[in-house]
Parts: sequence; C-alpha cells; structure tokens
Amino acid sequence: MSGTNEETETRLRSASWFSAEGRNGFGYRSWMRNQGFPVDLFSGRPVIGIANSASELAPCNAHLGRVAAAVKRGVWEAGGFPLEFPTMSLGESVIRPTAMLFRNLMAMEVEELIRGNPLDGVVLLTGCDKTTPAQLMAAASVDIPAIMVTGGPMLNGKFQGRDIGSGTDVWRFEQDLLAGRMSEADMSEAEGCMNRSNGHCMTMGTASTMACMAEALGMQLPGSAAIPAVDANRFVIAHLAGRRIVQMVAGNVRPSTILTRAAFENAIRVNAAIGGSTNAIVHLLAIAGRVGVDLELADFDRLGSEVPVLVNLMPSGQYLMEDFYYAGGLPAVMREIKEFLHLDQPTVSGHTVGENVADARCWNREVITASEDPFRPAGSGTVVLHGTLAPRGAVLKVSAASPELLTHRGQALVFDRIEDYKAVCDDPDLPVEASTVLVVRNAGPKGYPGFPEVGNMPVPAVLSKVGVEDMVRVSDARMSGTAYGTCVLHVAPEAAAGGPLALVQTGDWIELDVPNRRLDLLVDEAELEARRKSWSPPEPPPSGWARLYVDHVMQADEGVDLDILRGKRGYEVPRPSH
Ligand code: FES
Repeated sequence: MSGTNEETETRLRSASWFSAEGRNGFGYRSWMRNQGFPVDLFSGRPVIGIANSASELAPCNAHLGRVAAAVKRGVWEAGGFPLEFPTMSLGESVIRPTAMLFRNLMAMEVEELIRGNPLDGVVLLTGCDKTTPAQLMAAASVDIPAIMVTGGPMLNGKFQGRDIGSGTDVWRFEQDLLAGRMSEADMSEAEGCMNRSNGHCMTMGTASTMACMAEALGMQLPGSAAIPAVDANRFVIAHLAGRRIVQMVAGNVRPSTILTRAAFENAIRVNAAIGGSTNAIVHLLAIAGRVGVDLELADFDRLGSEVPVLVNLMPSGQYLMEDFYYAGGLPAVMREIKEFLHLDQPTVSGHTVGENVADARCWNREVITASEDPFRPAGSGTVVLHGTLAPRGAVLKVSAASPELLTHRGQALVFDRIEDYKAVCDDPDLPVEASTVLVVRNAGPKGYPGFPEVGNMPVPAVLSKVGVEDMVRVSDARMSGTAYGTCVLHVAPEAAAGGPLALVQTGDWIELDVPNRRLDLLVDEAELEARRKSWSPPEPPPSGWARLYVDHVMQADEGVDLDILRGKRGYEVPRPSH
C-alpha cells in the first residue's frame, strides 16, 4: 500500500492489518475476534473508528455512548465495520488548571490513535469546549476520511419561571450575590436548575460555537450543531453520519478536501453571524495550521466585520440553543448570509454548502433575525485590536461589551496573577473607579500556563454595590464563550513572553479605541525600555506536560498549538531520515 494520502487508494488502509497473511495477519485478526466478530468482517469492509470522548469527568460528553451506538447502526447498515475507541476528554467545568492546557495533548492523543490503528475512516464524537477543536485538529493532521458528530446542547435551564443559560447566568448570579441582590438559598436552587439534561452548555458559548464551526467548515452534517443532546434527532443525525462515513471512505473524501481556505472564511463569517465565542478564533487558527491553510488574526476582523449578528442568543442576546434549534438552527443562518459565503464548498454531506442550506427555513425571527433587520449590525462580532499594548493583536467581542466603553481612556490597576485580583476584589477599600482599566497578566498560554478563561474578571464589589456592571478589562487570558463584558482578551505577545503587557504599571494610562481597532499603553518608549531592562521571564515548570507545553506553545495570534504539532502528517508515522 502507498505510504502517502496523496496517491489514489487502491485498497483499504485497514487491509494492511486484517488482510495480512501468515503470523502477522493471524495476530491482527485473532485478538480482535475475541470480541465475537465473524471472520468475514475482516475482509473488504471499511473499518470505521468511532473516536468517543465520553467521560463522567466531562459531563457535557457523558452521553456520547448513546450517540456512538447510533453511529454504529449507520456504519453497519452501509457495510462498514465500526470500532469504537475512547479518547481523552476535557470537562471544561471540572478539569484544573484549565482545559485549554490539555487541548493540544488531546489533539496529539487522538491523532496518534487514529494513525496507529487499522482505520479507514473516523467519526469524531465531541461536545465540551476543547474536545471539538482537539478532535478536528487531530483528524486534520492524519487526513483520513473523517466526520464529526457533536453531542448537542442541554435543554434550556429553568429557574423561578424563566430561562437561564449555563455559564452566562452564573456570571450574573455571582455579581448579584456580591451586590446583595441574590440570596445563598436562591443561588443553591439555581445550581440545580441550570444544567438539567445531557449535553453541553446551551448558551452560544464555546461548545455551541465550535459545534457551529464544525458545521460551517463542512465537517459535520447540516443541521447537526443545534439539535439538543436529548432530542431523538440527535441520534438520527448520528445514524446518518455513520452511513455517510462509509461513503466518504469509498470516495476518499478527506479533511483536506473539506478544510480549504474558503471553508475557514465561511466559518469566520458564520461565527460573526451567530455572535460566537472569541475562543473560536484560537481554535480555527489551530485547525487551519494543521492543514496548512494560511489564516491570520486579521482575517477574523476583515471578514467578520462585514457580517451582521443575526442570532439572538446568550451571552450577547436572550435565547438559548434549544430555541435556536426550533428556529431553524445553523442552516437558517447560513442561508440568510449566503451572499457572504463560498457556496460551492464541499462538505461531508456530499453536497456543497449552497445545496445544504438552499431549503433552510427560519421559524422564529426573534431568535434568528433577517439580514435586513439584524439583531446587531455588521461589526458587532469579535474585533481585532492592535497597538502599543498588543503589537501582535488582541480581541474584543463587541456584542458582549458595553457600547459606551468601546472608546475609553483610563488608568491601569495591575495584577500580576488572577489569584492576586481574586484575593482583593471584594475589598471595600480597593482603589478603583468605574473608569479604571483592570489589567491581569501572566494568564496567557505560557504564563499560567494554559491560557485560562479568566479575562472577564468580576467587577470589584465596591463598584458592583453602587451599580457599576461593566468596566474595561485587559488581559492575556481568554474569556468563557458564555461570558460578557468589555474585556480585551488574548493580548499578544503575552506578558510571560515579554509582551508590553509585562511592563504596565498601576497608574499608567491605557486607551481603548474599538472603532479604530487600537489598544495603546500611553507610556513613552524610553520609560518602557527602562522597565524592559528590569524584566525577566518567569521560570518554566520543571518537567512533565506543562514543561513541554510552555517550551512549544505558540502565541494567541497563531492559535496556541504546539509548534511541533502544526501541519498535516498523513497516516504513516513520520520516520527519521537516514
Ligand atoms: Fe462543557 Fe460548557 S462546560 S460546554
């Protein structure tokens, strides 16, 4: 069999295991047959891996066993041979210090499992925030036929007669508790009402955004992203994906066929239309890096700012993913913005983007607005800022920010670690005003390490109590896709990499100018140079994954992948050259 994916396949990749003769073939087949598989399954059937990230420690993915069972039905029906295998999983709400520290580790693990096993195609089962980009990165690097099935969002949270959104309302409750507007008893009751079914966060947070990105890229079947985890149609779409992957193997439809520059441009525009998470930027940059698509931070602003926000979902809006599904889901949005999309792009459905959405309908204009009467005008999505404080860029989600703060000049109050801020944010004597710019640093990829979601630091209690709900915050951290506020995020280079953020001092003036896409530190260069001379980088972790990560992780404007993992490596293990 050929060693490269570029050549035409004459027989299945799995045949080099299961059709082997002699002792090797005996070994490959015999141990598998201990599971009760008839011997004829090992000749001629495409072997379909089902990469299952189910875990009780990743509650958003805990139900994926049922999804896998539905996929298997489809694979069997289409003449394939499904083999399910567990992958690493990352529970955003559980794992410490932050799931993002392990996204690349999961991507690396899944990549090697696909490559190392006798698989002709793979179905990727994901849900929680980082699991979706990790598996897409893995599949892109191996580049055998792959289709994704995300696990779907939870049903709407219900609390005291109203809908509440996972994540988004937690931030609100936290502020209400701090300000004395909510009791501990109500907080406890809300805890049991928010996340009440299988599935991932049902706001347009990072998990929902990345499910939409997988669909917009063409890597999961149209209509998949919004189906609630417990809806029967979630299992129908999984069944159909199982059928489809067998056809994709026959047609040699690989991620590199789907994940073109045009596909990423579609995803960027869709992300703007759904008011998607800022995290989509780092994940899309990382996936693009795996297939060699030259995507830049500037593309997100240039392409995204042309598209109005159509979807009225928390955290930018009012509704939740269940409502989004009933309103028509992502196909209805993509049809609405079709003038901005590359409609001739191929997708895993076997049809183009244009064909997939041609008949999409919207059933609720409150949830999915029309492009001529959008929820928010073009330019309200995520913008990219540059300036003396962020020479390689920073991002801000306009739809989640306060309009009056988008042009702002204030004095910095600087914290070297998020823990330092948390220790004093309730202090009634904290020297802070509504105009203060809160700065938290050393929370970037190298600095934390792992790039945590702490960029939406809570408004200090002393301000919250007098009704201040938002203020400008600047950090090299990320922010949860469920969060909101005037938060400048992903400042690059990060402080721990020697970016200007490391040099800011309390009392310095900072200017945010979103209309002109600027973020500036108003300190003269001679003073900064003097401060730079006394700065030294933090000591890296001594050993283990965290050390490997810090030594190789790239900055936010490059997608935060490890430099050694960029690129497409194909399905043969790269060997040393002799
Ligand atoms: Fe898993 Fe929000 S915690 S998607």
